This record gives sequence, C-alpha cells and structure tokens, in this order.
Amino acid sequence: MKEEILKIRDELLNLSSVIVLTGAGVSKESGVPTFRGKDGLWKNFDATQLATPDAFSRDPKLVWEWYNWRRSIIIKAKPNPAHFGIKKLEDLIPDFLLVTQNVDDLHRTAGSKKMVEMHGNIFRTRCTQCGDIKFEKKVFKEEELPPKCEKCEGLLRPDVVWFGEPIPMDVLSKIQEFSEKANAILVVGTSALVYPAAYIPFIIKQRGGKVFEINPDITPVTQIADISIRGKAGEVFKFIQNL
Ligand code: OAD
Repeated sequence: MKEEILKIRDELLNLSSVIVLTGAGVSKESGVPTFRGKDGLWKNFDATQLATPDAFSRDPKLVWEWYNWRRSIIIKAKPNPAHFGIKKLEDLIPDFLLVTQNVDDLHRTAGSKKMVEMHGNIFRTRCTQCGDIKFEKKVFKEEELPPKCEKCEGLLRPDVVWFGEPIPMDVLSKIQEFSEKANAILVVGTSALVYPAAYIPFIIKQRGGKVFEINPDITPVTQIADISIRGKAGEVFKFIQNL
C-alpha cells in the first residue's frame, strides 16, 4: 500500500491540472459523522424529515434543531492530516480545484482557498425573505431557533443544498470548466452515490484523465480508478507528510 500512496503523490505532483473531490469520510477522523455506513447520520435520522425544502416548510424549528446539533459537533472539530495534506497539494499543483461535498468548513480552516463547497456551508445562513447571506461560526441558543434575519426579520435557513434542490449555477460552472481541463482527480472519503458530485470522476476518466481514490471501502469509483487505496484519509496523508 505504501508504494501505491507514493505513486499517487508522485503522479499528482507531475500533473498540471488536478481536481480533489472530498466527502464526509475526509472529516471522519476529525470526529464528524458520515452519512452512510454503520454509524452514518442517515442510519438514525430520516433525510426526508430534515434535509428537504418540504421538511423545512413543515417544521423549521425541527430542521434547525438538527442543523444546530450538527453545528455543535462540527464547531469542536479540527482539521486532520487529510485536510492539511489537500491544502499542501493546492500549493504544489499549478492548476488545482478542491470540490467538497462537506458543509463542515474544515477544509477552509485548514487553509484551502481554491475550493468550491458543492453542498453549501453549515455555518452560513440565508434569509428566506431578503436572501441575505451570513457566515457565523456559532451554535444558536435553543430559544433563538428558528433564527430570524437581522435585516428584515425573515426566517433564516441553513445555506446548504437540500435533497431536491439544485447545486448553485456558479459552483456547477466552475466544476464544469475545470473538469474540461483536469488531467486527474483524487477522490477522498466519499461513497460517490450522490449526484452530480458522483459524475465528476467518470467525466475525468472519459476524457482520458487519471482517477485516484482513498477510501477504506469499495465505491463505484473503485472500478474506474487507476489506483485505489483502501485506507483512512488522515492516515494516508499522515504517511505522505512523514516522509
Ligand atoms: P457518505 O457518508 O455517503 O460516505 C462517506 C464515505 O467515507 C464512505 O465511502 C466511507 O467508506 C468513507 N470513509 C469513512 N471513514 C473514512 C476515512 N477515515 N477516510 C476516508 N474515507 C472514509 O458521505 P458523502 O459521500 O460525503 O449531501 O455523502 C454525499 C452527500 O450525501 C453529502 O454531502 C450529503 C449526504 O446526504 C447532502 O446533505 C446534500
């Protein structure tokens, strides 16, 4: 496995244009739960009751309680060697884009800048009335839920993408533009089951680019990967850093 890790590192550093696609698994070693798998959030919670526009219109307080609980876990989490390693790749590869499905802000905390958050950010709110967007790394008090807009008193919602909602156009165009020139993609810690994110490695492969993967489990990306490492993201990146 060590040789394969080094091969991925060397290949990536020799390529001019690379996408890194991350999912919840990259933050698992930081203590943030994933969605699927045995301890995943969707094992204990019903997505249709918590992560859809309908759920929010039905019961905004319930939806907010769930997001606020997740904020309370995420706010204590710190980036792990995978987040820092991905930032290092950004510094070393001339043309680089990190596409994360995570809303936990840990890539930004680790310093990542060339990044798009495909599913939004849990610490951002958006006013359902005036559209005002605010980033605040905090946990709301119980009595503040559901929070209201300071400007217009409208109901605030988490600025995340819910099931049934489109990915923002500016984010999609940036990914599309980059996918057209990328020579490789490194896919880390995603089950690759949620679209459109799950298409990206297939687009790169179809264009003749290299596909690398880091995941303890097999995913749909494994079958098209040039190299797939069965390991935990934090441990794999720690190994690279220690060389
Ligand atoms: P999932 O929970 O579906 O998948 C997490 C992946 O991380 C699995 O493939 C695990 O095998 C892997 N994994 C677990 N521990 C790991 C570790 N230490 N290192 C590396 N990988 C590890 O999470 P996502 O693929 O991110 O969307 O899910 C995609 C989307 O589905 C999320 O963004 C969210 C969810 O519903 C929305 O909320 C819109």
